Parts: sequence; structure tokens; C-alpha cells
Amino acid sequence: MPTLGVNIDHVATIRQARQTVEPDPVAAAVLAELAGADGITVHLREDRRHIQERDVRILRQTVRTHLNLEMAPTKEMVAIALEIKPDYITLVPERREEVTTEGGLDVAGNLPQMREVVAQLQGEDIPVSMFIDAERVQIEASAETQAKFIELHTGSYAEAEDEATRYKELTVLADGCQIAIAAGLRVNAGHGLTYWNVYPVACLEGMEELNIGHTIISRAVLVGMERAVREMKLAIYGNL
Ligand code: PXP
Repeated sequence: MPTLGVNIDHVATIRQARQTVEPDPVAAAVLAELAGADGITVHLREDRRHIQERDVRILRQTVRTHLNLEMAPTKEMVAIALEIKPDYITLVPERREEVTTEGGLDVAGNLPQMREVVAQLQGEDIPVSMFIDAERVQIEASAETQAKFIELHTGSYAEAEDEATRYKELTVLADGCQIAIAAGLRVNAGHGLTYWNVYPVACLEGMEELNIGHTIISRAVLVGMERAVREMKLAIYGNL
């Protein structure tokens, strides 16, 4: 079965809502690893809306599994990545106004730029993964860049409104996996996966790692609520 990369961006989103120091994504990464996470994923966005550069620098030192840095293929991000040297990098498209990463990267439409970014990063021994839709043209273009991995965008599968559409989207992902493997790529997947829809994707042949964030942080908030309130009552009575 594939390994699990836990995306901890939302922990930083809560911290940034108050511009304070809690909750600390570095602490969240430690706990995620203790619970069995195989990797930690963070997205350093151009607007720094959640994860900050300082978080990535500290995570580089504290993560004991592997650190996957998601970033846009820009000069600024490449410079940061070459300095911090995460274990691997996932290149993602980025638009300032989006709530979260919306579509996959257009590798085919920007081949020379993508080739250059992959060469810069992999030239420093940082494997690169391209976050793309499961379309043959994007998969083959990703192989042309010499990137080691692709991450298949599972958004269309996750957002399918009925079983027939979900099954069709799963087939698209399964075909994408096979096209990628035939082209010499390794395959990860992510976006919109939940406790309820993850299993069929985990069963896809050749799938190596699933990157999952929103559903895990959402569940963490709820399963932790009772304890958090109980502890505040104790704190009010000076008994924590
Ligand atoms: N993979 C990539 C490339 C992403 O951009 C995201 C969202 O930050 C994820 C995986 C995780 O998606 P979700 O938070 O929906 O699990």
C-alpha cells in the first residue's frame, strides 16, 4: 500500500489567523510522525498565507521521515529550496486568489521553463514531483522534464457527485498511473482525499505516496475537542 505524507499547512493557517505562535506546525509534524506519518508535506506559498520560511527551515532539521516541499516553479522558490534542501519537491501551480491549489500544473504548455526548474533542483539531488492532472499529455511532458515523480491530482475524483462519475475518475487515475510508470515516472497522488474516499486510490497499482491534509486536520480538531475543553476547565481552576 502507498505511504502517507501528512500535509500540515492548516495548522499554520490557524496560527496565522491570530499571527501568534500556536499551534506550531513543527509540533504537529512531530505528533504526525509519532502516529505513523511516512512524510511531512508543507506548501510555502508566495503570499505566505500559512507556512512561513522559518517553519520550513526548522522542519528541515526536525522531520525524521521525509520533508516534501510544495512550491510554485518560480525563481524565488527555487532559491529557497536550493538553500533549505527538502527531501523532495512537488511543483504546483499557484494563483493568489485561489483558496487551495485548484488545477494541475501545465507542464506541456511550459516545457522549457519546467525543464530548467527540474534541472536546477535535481542537479542538487532534490528529486522533483510534478502535480498534474491525469492527462497523457501532461504525464508525458513531465517525463520529458526528467522529473522523478508525478503527483496525480485527485480533485476530480474527490469532488465527483455520483458513483458513476467517481468510478470514471478512478479509471482516469488508474490509467494515469500506468502511463506514468511506462514513461519511467514514479507516482504519488493527492488533493481532496478523505477517510471515506481514500481506499480505492490507495489500491491503485503502482501508487507510492498519498499526500493528505484537510481531512486529517479537520478530524484532529474534532477528536481533540473534548480533551482541550476539559483541560481548559482544569486550567481555570488552577489544576492543569
Ligand atoms: N497535494 C498537493 C499538491 C496539494 O496542493 C494539496 C493541498 O495543499 C494536497 C496534496 C493535500 O490536499 P488536501 O488538503 O485536500 O488533502
